[in-house]
Amino acid sequence: MYGLVNQAIRDMICVNHGQEIWVKVRERADVEIEQFEGMEPYPDDLTHRLVMAASLELQQSPHALLRAFGEFWVRYTAAEGYGPLMEMAGSSLPEFLHNLDDLHARVGVNFPQLVPPAFDTEEMEEGTMHLHYHSQRQGLAPMVIGLVEGLGDRFETPVEVEQLACRTDGSDHDVFAVHYVDPADQP
Ligand code: HEM
Repeated sequence: MYGLVNQAIRDMICVNHGQEIWVKVRERADVEIEQFEGMEPYPDDLTHRLVMAASLELQQSPHALLRAFGEFWVRYTAAEGYGPLMEMAGSSLPEFLHNLDDLHARVGVNFPQLVPPAFDTEEMEEGTMHLHYHSQRQGLAPMVIGLVEGLGDRFETPVEVEQLACRTDGSDHDVFAVHYVDPADQP
């Protein structure tokens, strides 16, 4: 994955736990690189090793860590110069979820080796959307839960994410029910 992702993992750990813990995570993951290049692709295995090492070092499950990372990513990208791209993707949670593929297509202009996820949305009853997540990578579904929660914060939209189908259980792809309260309908 692009170094931007590894940079964000480093920042999340440094902000929440301090630089010393990050150094321990890096050593445990057997990663010698101190400074990632945001626009350079790195092997997926490196990112995977960082997540596993952080999970052991912080005694948090990989699921909890990836979920926290998803939430962090929404704020991180907005702060790291991708705010205009985020703004283009929509001004409400459902609109934004609907436009995730367009967002990554725009990201791909500057990141030519991007291997982006693919999302489909299905409008269900009022306040519920089904989000279908297809990926060439394994194990990132918890990150999607955190990402949607982070977007809920961004749009001040209370949200609950329920996983309806998991690739780890043999489904073809991951499916989430996103239950949200439109800010206009809040008391
Ligand atoms: C402007 C904001 C964003 C930028 C710049 C961005 C960029 C990226 C980059 C660089 C990757 C790594 C893929 C690779 O290196 O091949 C990635 C992966 C991913 N992104 Fe985004 N992204 C953004 C917002 C979002 C949002 C809001 C979501 C919400 C669902 C999201 C979902 C994902 C997922 C799930 C992956 C993992 C890749 C996979 O499943 O294979 N991204 N994105």
